[in-house]
Amino acid sequence: MAKKRGTALEEHEKRKLNKQNLSKLGGIFRFVLPYKFNFFLGMLFLAFSSLTLLTFPFVAGKLIDAASGEEWLVTGINNIAFILLGILLVQSIFSFFRVWLFAKVSERSMRDIRIALYRQLVQLPMTFFDKRRTGELISRITADVSMLQDTFSTTLAELFRQIITLLAGVVFLMFTTPKLTLFMLATFPVLVVIAMVFGKFIRKLSKETQDELAAANVIVEETLQSIMTVKSFAGEDYESNRYSTGLNRVVKVALKAAGFRGAFISFIIFALFGGIVAVMWYGASLVASGEMSVGDLVSFVLYTTFIGGSIAGLGDIYGQIQKAIGSSERLLEILDEAPEVSTADFQQIPVAGDIEFNNVAFSYPTRPEVEVLKSIQLKIKAGEKVALAGHSGAGKSTIVQLLLKFYPVLKGEVKVDGKPVNDWNLKQLRSNIGIVPQEVLLFGGSIRENIAYAKPDATEEEIIEAAKKANAWQFISQFPEGLDTKVGERGIKLSGGQRQRVAIARAILKDPAILILDEATSSLDAESEALVQEALDELMKNRTTIIIAHRLATIRKVDRIYVLSNGEIVEQGRHEDLAIQEDGFYANLVKLQFAE
Ligand SMILES: Nc1ncnc2c1ncn2[C@@H]1O[C@H](COP(=O)(O)OP(=O)(O)O)[C@@H](O)[C@H]1O
Ligand SMILES: [Mg+2]
Repeated sequence: MAKKRGTALEEHEKRKLNKQNLSKLGGIFRFVLPYKFNFFLGMLFLAFSSLTLLTFPFVAGKLIDAASGEEWLVTGINNIAFILLGILLVQSIFSFFRVWLFAKVSERSMRDIRIALYRQLVQLPMTFFDKRRTGELISRITADVSMLQDTFSTTLAELFRQIITLLAGVVFLMFTTPKLTLFMLATFPVLVVIAMVFGKFIRKLSKETQDELAAANVIVEETLQSIMTVKSFAGEDYESNRYSTGLNRVVKVALKAAGFRGAFISFIIFALFGGIVAVMWYGASLVASGEMSVGDLVSFVLYTTFIGGSIAGLGDIYGQIQKAIGSSERLLEILDEAPEVSTADFQQIPVAGDIEFNNVAFSYPTRPEVEVLKSIQLKIKAGEKVALAGHSGAGKSTIVQLLLKFYPVLKGEVKVDGKPVNDWNLKQLRSNIGIVPQEVLLFGGSIRENIAYAKPDATEEEIIEAAKKANAWQFISQFPEGLDTKVGERGIKLSGGQRQRVAIARAILKDPAILILDEATSSLDAESEALVQEALDELMKNRTTIIIAHRLATIRKVDRIYVLSNGEIVEQGRHEDLAIQEDGFYANLVKLQFAE
């Protein structure tokens, strides 16, 4: 918690502490419920340790009085000192257990929140991901959950502790030294109000500093991401200057804030000790007139510092709770989203692979005003190979996304094996469709795991067989670790063509009835393309296949080509027929490509 002291709350992080907002924190509290026993036990230890510590000033006062020979329950300076040590020991034992118990509760409940959140995230529909940036979602599962973890492990406990200290302290003082307490209570609030006003102003300035720093950091991020561009334009000096200008602005604002902070701190120190002087002065005169003992004055001063400390702490806690409410709100928002419909159990029945689009029109939910597909009509019989051609942005990939039920089909009908996709069990439908995309992203892990992704229980023989059919075995078997070679971040980097062949092996193992190749060879050089094409030909055997290809040479042999333009099918037929059509759309595409 300490590291967050003094950092300003972002405007969007602030939440009023009203009933409705507090109930949001309550909504997250359901994750703590399973561990409520430990939580309340922790609270109990916390109460014990706070109350034990509160007896400390009282006994310390008695120690001073014992020096001037006054009598108490136990006599002698040494004995009272031992009692003080005893109090410290007991309170440290209590403190240990409350820290341990709260950690147990918060670690486990935060794990549960993260799991629930992740499960929810992966089950949300594509529409959700269209609206959110990945970075934002990651910060939900990291930063926001950590914020709540702080809240449930320390902030709530602190709140509880400060309130106990404050109330018990004031009540105790009112009881033992009423006159001096009233005097103290009269001076304290004035200080607190002044400190709060000042504090708010300083927080605003330190937020400005943070904003400037963030702006400067963007420069670093941007340039490092596109370092090639920077270097190719010889822009190193320009960027360095830009960065140092940004940093100078940070220094300027930070120094302004530091000026105010300095003034604030010296004021607080002056006022605080001024207050102490005033109280001591009044206390000393009470001691002089015999109304109070020296020991009582000492314990009074100690109590007052306890109370002062908890008032200062409460301000901090208030800000923390405001932030925590913001975090809960954002988490609940995700947890309350509706997941994709049932991916529950289903009967695996064989799928033939007939595909039909009946008068399908479609707009992406994020851009409802643009009709990406307009009355698409197509019919692909099981086992046929067809191609979708057309300029980029024509709507080819969108057709595939509808087939996969990534988005709901609202106008017209998409059918697989004569049954509308809307009626298909999501998991069953998708488990029968294989995709080889243009950019294959492999998961960090071994090549074996990547190939077996669609069939985790595949045997070694099946995996090798698939790799062989995909033309991937040649390079995999050359790695010293073979199938167990790690790929991705900390492993071997595979070339585009090699990644593609791993993806093909994965699809072969999945053995889907329907296969989709979305520009699968578009980003490969001629040599890899030949190898990948060979593997693809093997993969396409006995499957309904939709090929989306940029290079028209790869789709000459298909049964039928659909040519798309602006979301409409403008031509369809075999390559030989379409290519010779005078002024035909496809014929023009072909001409353009050969002119390249
Ligand atoms: N997730 C999306 N949200 C909104 N619009 C999209 C989305 N994906 C694609 N589009 C738009 O839909 C149109 C068709 O895209 P797409 O089907 O990917 O074209 P193609 O695959 O033929 O190049 C484009 O104008 C594109 O900008
Ligand atoms: Mg596309």
